[in-house]
Amino acid sequence: MFNQRREQYLKFVNQGSISLLFSGLAPQRSQDDNYPFAVNRNFYYLTGIDQENVVCLMIKGETKTQSFIFMDPIDPLKVLWDGAGFSFEEAAKVSGVEVSAVKDIKTLDSFITQLLSTSRRAVFGDIHTAYLDLDRLTPNLPDSKAQTYAKFLTSLFPFIDIKPNQNILARLRTVKNDVEVEAIKKAINITKDGINRLMSTLKPGETEYGMEAEFNYVLNKNRATPAFGTIAATGANATTLHYRDNDATIKDGELMLYDLGACRDLYSADISRTLPVNGKFTDRQKAIYEVVLSCNKKTIEWLKPGITMAEFNQYGKDILIEGAKKLGLIEKDEEILKYYYHSLGHYLGLDIHDVGRYSEPIPVGAIITVEPGLYIAEEGIGIRIEDDVLVTEDGCINLSKDIIKEVKDIEAFMAK
Ligand code: GLY
Ligand code: MN
Ligand code: MN
Repeated sequence: MFNQRREQYLKFVNQGSISLLFSGLAPQRSQDDNYPFAVNRNFYYLTGIDQENVVCLMIKGETKTQSFIFMDPIDPLKVLWDGAGFSFEEAAKVSGVEVSAVKDIKTLDSFITQLLSTSRRAVFGDIHTAYLDLDRLTPNLPDSKAQTYAKFLTSLFPFIDIKPNQNILARLRTVKNDVEVEAIKKAINITKDGINRLMSTLKPGETEYGMEAEFNYVLNKNRATPAFGTIAATGANATTLHYRDNDATIKDGELMLYDLGACRDLYSADISRTLPVNGKFTDRQKAIYEVVLSCNKKTIEWLKPGITMAEFNQYGKDILIEGAKKLGLIEKDEEILKYYYHSLGHYLGLDIHDVGRYSEPIPVGAIITVEPGLYIAEEGIGIRIEDDVLVTEDGCINLSKDIIKEVKDIEAFMAK
């Protein structure tokens, strides 16, 4: 599979080019401890290797195309403290790179400098372009490995053309294969179990962090981690889109919005639901909820390949505008921004806000979140209903349809 992905990737780069991807390093947390390692997703997508300090080099030469992996050899001392990590043979097997093309990372710089100098040109011909996973620079954060390497290459070889490869990878990664769809389904299933546990314990007097803990319990049991900071927000807290404090005590009569997901094997779910904490919606809560729900359902019914993200956003927004007028919240269309201030969804995959060509029509095989919401701070109400859908030839399939969202189903569940 990873061989095929590199082949696909290489179709889009210039002949006479190298491409470099870095798996990354876990940032230090304190003296002797690091944050959990999160592999660079573009690197993983092309190699299947989830390990620190590994580099993938793909050469599309004039005469020959080849991929190499550079990594740490097994270190007997590290084996005792942290475990082994992949051997060269294992890395070759997982990635599909020939075992003779897996090399010690200490030799990377000299390998590349030879490649770009004259001595290796017999094998790969002239190399004039280097593609790197170059993201925007983040002020106050250290340069990424790709940025540092771009500077290193230009300092030695000013004639080398440095290009970002993110757009190529974004286009490839937007279309999910069966393995990826299954992985996301698995993450959604774990998320569903976590939500059911959370819902069965939800009641006034409990806490937002207590609900988060119920969810996390199910994740831990399934070797999954939270895909992002779980949002468990009651009352007006739910009008803060990325509310993370989760420190309030749950009060009778409120709604609770949770936005959460399990990440398992690097693929994630991203789900939102909104519930009455005492098990029953008031008439007003229900009226607002039904507007958001109908927007969620109509959009899922309508969504198909070829639609642009802009059309997708506008479709949902129009339904929310209509609904907000009926609810007496607004008179003019543009006033909707007071109650709905995010977009309708995003691609989902190896990243939560996944890469994708957001200016191009939505392709078959994309997985998208559909997450309309209404946030009425003055009424202490925030509602979002978020599903994850797979775009197919003639429409889309709601992968999270088994996570209940109808008023009657929620009230029946909570009554049990
Ligand atoms: N959890 C962030 C989002 O729904 O996009
Ligand atoms: Mn979400
Ligand atoms: Mn989302």
